[in-house]
Amino acid sequence: MIRIDREKCNLCRNCVDICHTACMSVCGDELTIDYPLCSTCCQCIAVCPRGALSWDGAEPRELKGIETATYQQLVGLLKARRTTRRFKDMAVEREKLEKLCRTVKLAPTNIYDLEVIVVGDKAVIDELGEMGRKGIRRMYWLFYRNPLGFAFLKRFGRFSRAVNDIDRRKVFNSIEKGSTNLHGAPVLIMLTGDPWIGFARISAHYALYNMILTAQALGLGSCISGNSTIFFGRNKRARELLGIPGDRSILAVLEVGYPAVRFRHSVEGNYPAVRWI
Ligand SMILES: Cc1cc2nc3c(=O)[nH]c(=O)nc-3n(C[C@H](O)[C@H](O)[C@H](O)COP(=O)(O)O)c2cc1C
Ligand code: SF4
Ligand code: SF4
Repeated sequence: MIRIDREKCNLCRNCVDICHTACMSVCGDELTIDYPLCSTCCQCIAVCPRGALSWDGAEPRELKGIETATYQQLVGLLKARRTTRRFKDMAVEREKLEKLCRTVKLAPTNIYDLEVIVVGDKAVIDELGEMGRKGIRRMYWLFYRNPLGFAFLKRFGRFSRAVNDIDRRKVFNSIEKGSTNLHGAPVLIMLTGDPWIGFARISAHYALYNMILTAQALGLGSCISGNSTIFFGRNKRARELLGIPGDRSILAVLEVGYPAVRFRHSVEGNYPAVRWI
C-alpha cells in the first residue's frame, strides 16, 4: 500500500499527474489517495522528488545510485540466453531462486496480484510432468492421429491455419522422439493470477522473461513451458497439489536448473524482416 509522508510532501502534484488511474488528488493542502482505485503500479513513488511516498514504509532507493547495464552488456546477455532443454540433476540454491522471484516485480504488467510458486519437490514435479505428458498424448491421439479429429482441428481449431501435415509430423516427432516434457528440471516456477484480467498471460510472461535473463546472469538455464500452462494450467489435481484457489490460474511456467548443455555460439537464427514505414 502506498504511504504518504506528509512532512516531506510539498504538494508539487508530480504524483497526481502521473497516476494512471487518477486516484490521487490534492484537496486543499492535503494529498489523498482513493485506495480502492490504486493499481499498485508504484509510478507515483518513482517520480516523487521529495521521497515522500513509499510502499508500506519501505524507503525508495534513488535510481542515480543504481548501476544499470550498458548497451553492450545487455546485448551480451541477450545473445548468451538460450532455452535449456536438458538440466543437470543438481539442486538450485535457494538464494538464487529468491533473486529470480524478486525480478517479477520489476516487469511491466497489467496484472498486479501475480503470485509466484516455486516447486522444488521432485514428487510434485514428476506428477505434474506426467499430467502434461498425458495431456499432450491425449491431444495428439484425438486431433492428430484420428482423421476426423484432424479434419475438425483444421477446419475449426483455434489455430486451424497453423495445422497441416508438417505440423502433424512435428507433433509426432516431438512426442515420440523429442525431448521429455519438463526436461528433468529440478525446479518449476509458476506464476498464478486471475486469468480474466486483461493481458494476464502476456503480463505473466514478461515477468517470466525477467526471471529468464536473471537466471542467465546467475549461470542457470531455463525453459518456458507453454505446454504446461495448456495441459495443467486449469487442471483440478494440479491446483490441489499446488494449493491454487478456484479463481486463479497458472498463467506461466518456467523450468529452471543448471544446464546440462553448453552453448558455444551466439546464433540469431531466422531474423524477422523489418519494414520501415
Ligand atoms: C510462449 C512460449 C512458450 C514456449 N513453450 C515451450 C514448451 O512448451 N516447451 C519447450 O521446450 N519450449 C518452449 N518454448 C521455448 C521456445 O521453443 C524457444 O524459445 C525457441 O525454440 C527459441 O529458442 P531459444 O529460446 O534458445 O532462442 C516456449 C517459448 C515461448 C515464448
Ligand atoms: S510527488 Fe511527492 S512531493 Fe509531490 S505531491 Fe506527490 S507526494 Fe507530494
Ligand atoms: S501506485 Fe499507481 S495507481 Fe496507485 S496511486 Fe500510485 S500511480 Fe496511482
